[in-house]
Amino acid sequence: MTHPKVTVVGAGQVGATAAELLLLHNLADVVMIDVAEGLPQGKALDLMHMRSVEGFGPCVRGTNDYAETAGSDVVVVTAGLPRRPGMTRDDLLASNSAIVRSVIASAVAASPDAVFICVTNPLDVMTYLAWKESGLCAEKVFGMGGVLDSARFAYAIAEKTGADIADISALAMGAHGDAMCVLPRLSTVKGRPLTELLPLGEVEALVQRTVLGGAEVVGLLKAGSAFYAPAASVVSMVRAVLEDSGQTLPGCVLLQGEYGVSDVFLSVPARFGRSGFLGVTELALDDAETRALQDSAATVAASLDALGLRG
Ligand code: LAC
Repeated sequence: MTHPKVTVVGAGQVGATAAELLLLHNLADVVMIDVAEGLPQGKALDLMHMRSVEGFGPCVRGTNDYAETAGSDVVVVTAGLPRRPGMTRDDLLASNSAIVRSVIASAVAASPDAVFICVTNPLDVMTYLAWKESGLCAEKVFGMGGVLDSARFAYAIAEKTGADIADISALAMGAHGDAMCVLPRLSTVKGRPLTELLPLGEVEALVQRTVLGGAEVVGLLKAGSAFYAPAASVVSMVRAVLEDSGQTLPGCVLLQGEYGVSDVFLSVPARFGRSGFLGVTELALDDAETRALQDSAATVAASLDALGLRG
């Protein structure tokens, strides 16, 4: 059986875990590429040793050469430095922009028809940079942010209420960072809005736990940042593309006037399928939510302007 081809750039924790999930879910043959010699090859070999135990069909190989990534259907960009304790995602701006520029140039040359999904932080800025550097239309380039933030909100709600995770629908959008817009009014347990289930103070605490979810993991790990949930989140987006599902997921996409925001990549509920980002699923936000999203956009725009990327 032939499988689609997914390239994962970066054989660190997020990249290798994403590769593992792509294999375990039988979604795609994977090429894992990294600048570190031996790292992608070693992790790919280890994953292939797992193949008869888990019984998955697709294969993975590791490489340092973009020629082997040629003709990919999807390219997932995880390359970059992770946060260390005390760092914000924005502290990674300078180092990771150089990495993302060079990765995108090589990956697009090898796979000009691929859909590109960015995971590298600071996510919203790196996704914009990846799009600019790629020369591709905005349909083909998007980022993973809101899926992870929404998953963290769902976790916080489940922990607090004891509800089954399957009964929770949680939504976080906006910047993947401190300016995140967590939306309790649009998040439900068994269809009931969180704002009707818990007092305001408790809702606020869950929102804060969500915004700081990544930092909570970084603080506990002490070295490196989260990878299981980030990898699962990006793989859910790869799945929507490969299965051409048209699924609505909170993804980091180019806004062109939606919610009064333009020329910024930000996570909003959007549809994803074989050609990539298919369109924004615009929600009826109230005034305060719209303002929060616009404030979130303004923080991302400030970073883009600092890099001289817009206009
Ligand atoms: C986090 C990193 C991946 O949120 O941004 O854990």
